[in-house]
Amino acid sequence: MPSFPDQVAVITGGAGGLGYALGVHLARLGVRVALLDIDAGKAVAKAATLPSNALGVGADVTDHDACARAVAEITTRCGRIDIWVNAAGITGKTALKSHEVDLADFDRVMAINVRSCLVTTRLVLPVMLKQNYGRVLHVASIAGKEGNAGMVAYSTSKAAVIGLTKAQGKEYADTGITVNAIAPAVILTEMHDTMPQSQIDYMTSKIPMGRCGTRQEFAEMATFIVSPACSFTTGFTFDLSGGRATY
Ligand SMILES: NC(=O)c1ccc[n+]([C@@H]2O[C@H](COP(=O)([O-])OP(=O)(O)OC[C@H]3O[C@@H](n4cnc5c(N)ncnc54)[C@H](O)[C@@H]3O)[C@@H](O)[C@H]2O)c1
Repeated sequence: MPSFPDQVAVITGGAGGLGYALGVHLARLGVRVALLDIDAGKAVAKAATLPSNALGVGADVTDHDACARAVAEITTRCGRIDIWVNAAGITGKTALKSHEVDLADFDRVMAINVRSCLVTTRLVLPVMLKQNYGRVLHVASIAGKEGNAGMVAYSTSKAAVIGLTKAQGKEYADTGITVNAIAPAVILTEMHDTMPQSQIDYMTSKIPMGRCGTRQEFAEMATFIVSPACSFTTGFTFDLSGGRATY
C-alpha cells in the first residue's frame, strides 16, 4: 500500500469521473486532496464527501490567472503541493472525419487538454522545486498513442500531452520531481454522455480484454505513479488499455 506522509494533491477535472475516483483513493490513504474543476459547485460538493480535510476549488484550466489564484489559495491553505494531476479534459466533437472538423472545436480541445497542462505546471513546478519533491501526472489517452478515427482533435491533443510529458520528465529529472502520463482506454464516465454510441463501440471493440476499464483500475495505477515509491520513472506514459497498446 503506497504511503503519502502529510502530502497534498491537486486534481484538475477533480469533479469528473476519473479525477474524483483518484481523489477518493488518495484521500483514503491520508492525502489532503484539492479537487479543482471549472464546475466550482460540483468540486466543493464532491470534496465534502472525501475524508482528510479535502477542498474543492473552482478554476478554468485554460485561464492562467484563475489557475494562479487556485495555486496560491491551495498553497496558503495546505502549506505545500506534492502531487498535481491534470485530469481536466474534453473529447470535443467526435464521429467526424478530418475534412468535417470544426476548427473552433479543435482549438478548444487543444486549449483544455494540452495548453492547460503547461499553464498549470508552469505554476506548480516552482512550488515543487522549492520542496525538492513533486509528482506530476498528466492524463493522456490511448487515443494519443494509437489515434482514434473520428476523434482527430482529441487524438492530436493526447499525443501532444505524451510529448509534453517526455520533455518535462527530462527537464526536471534531477530535481526530485517526476512527470509522467497515463493513457487509459475507455472507462465509462460522464465524458461519454454526449458521444455517439457508434464512437464508443468503435473504441471498445479495439480492447483485447473485451471490456472497458474501471475507475478503480485507473485510481490504483495513478496512485502508484504519484506515490513516493514511483521514484525511478519519469517522462513515461503508463498504459491502461486492456492490451490495446503493448508499448
Ligand atoms: N474516461 C475515459 O474513457 C478516458 C480515457 C482516456 C483518457 N481520459 C481522460 O481522462 C480525463 C478525465 O476524464 P473523465 O472520463 O473523468 O471525464 P469527465 O467528463 O467525467 O471529467 C472531466 C472533468 O473536467 C472538467 N473540466 C472540463 N473542462 C474544464 C476546464 N476548462 N477547466 C477545469 N475543469 C474542466 C469537467 O467539469 C469534468 O468534471 C480527461 O483528460 C480525459 O480525456 C478519459
